[in-house]
Amino acid sequence: MNDITRAAERLRAGGLVVFPTETVYGVGCDATNARAVARLFEAKGRPHFNPLITHVLGLPQAEEHAHLHPNALRLASAFWPGPLTLVARRRAESSIAELACAGLSTVALRAPAHPMARALIEAFAGPIAAPSANRSGHVSATTAQHAADDLGDRVDLVLDGGASPLGLESTIIGVDDAGQAALLRHGAIAKQDIEAVIGPLAGRAASGVAAPGMLESHYAPRAHLRLDAHDTRPGEAYLAFGREAPPGGLTLSARGDLVEAAANLYAHLRALDASGVEVIAVAPIPSSGLGEAIRDRLWRAAAPRLDLLGANAPFSAQADPIE
Ligand code: TXA
Ligand code: MG
Repeated sequence: MNDITRAAERLRAGGLVVFPTETVYGVGCDATNARAVARLFEAKGRPHFNPLITHVLGLPQAEEHAHLHPNALRLASAFWPGPLTLVARRRAESSIAELACAGLSTVALRAPAHPMARALIEAFAGPIAAPSANRSGHVSATTAQHAADDLGDRVDLVLDGGASPLGLESTIIGVDDAGQAALLRHGAIAKQDIEAVIGPLAGRAASGVAAPGMLESHYAPRAHLRLDAHDTRPGEAYLAFGREAPPGGLTLSARGDLVEAAANLYAHLRALDASGVEVIAVAPIPSSGLGEAIRDRLWRAAAPRLDLLGANAPFSAQADPIE
């Protein structure tokens, strides 16, 4: 069995695989497997669930997951395969796990050019969610050795394709349903090269696509959330952790596994919300490991109308341009 076949098998089994792209190395998982995505956040040591870029072979695959305006199609034709990431409205029928999009209504898609990345996506025959292969807060890895030094035994396999030729992350462009395009992250393709294809880019605020820092648009349930709840009051549904759910509730993880809890988070919030309860009482979640990210998301879901980007925000907006 060659390395690519083995790597694709690891992905199918929910594993994490480091692979080269022409920009930087990525650490990838099956984008449709919420549990694998949760493991990936854990391996990166991401304090928050930043949305991930999903890697596909090209336009036909991208269109399965996103509503792409002709302007997005133009950019894809001009720069794919290559160092361009498109953010666009996610299709309702997309199989990409919500956690990979951090609960946003948009999805980030990229068709890399690196032959090893392409061989892996082809062998896996599905979308691969992959952030840069570095621990959170470290710089991106541009060699297999750097990725291995940083992530070590947190990943299942490392594909070595030599040094990343570009060494700079992809340029991220958001294109909304009206075709307004905004630069969300500077990267390996210069702004003027993008503008040469679709004309002047709008400011972030003008685009209907939320910039990475604009996390207030993350999923917020209709129901109110009561956090750190040890029990339920009449009329509440319980979102448990570390125990089975009481009737009418759900458990993020009966055995108190934070990876399992992260994988269940969005789906369970949605399901309890859909049940029509007014209040979801959420069990205390420990703040270790992925717990911090889970708590962060619960906090945001509990207070959707707070000005999260204001001066008194309890944490900074996760604009996170290089992370
Ligand atoms: O070159 C690259 O883009 C590399 C290779 C591995 O593909 N990947 C990469 O991924 O840099 P990462 O996770 O380190 O950065 C992804 C960026 C983050 O800033 C994130 O906020 C943004 O993409 N992003 C992902 N989905 C988004 C969305 N739906 N809306 C806005 N920003 C999004
Ligand atoms: Mg990164």
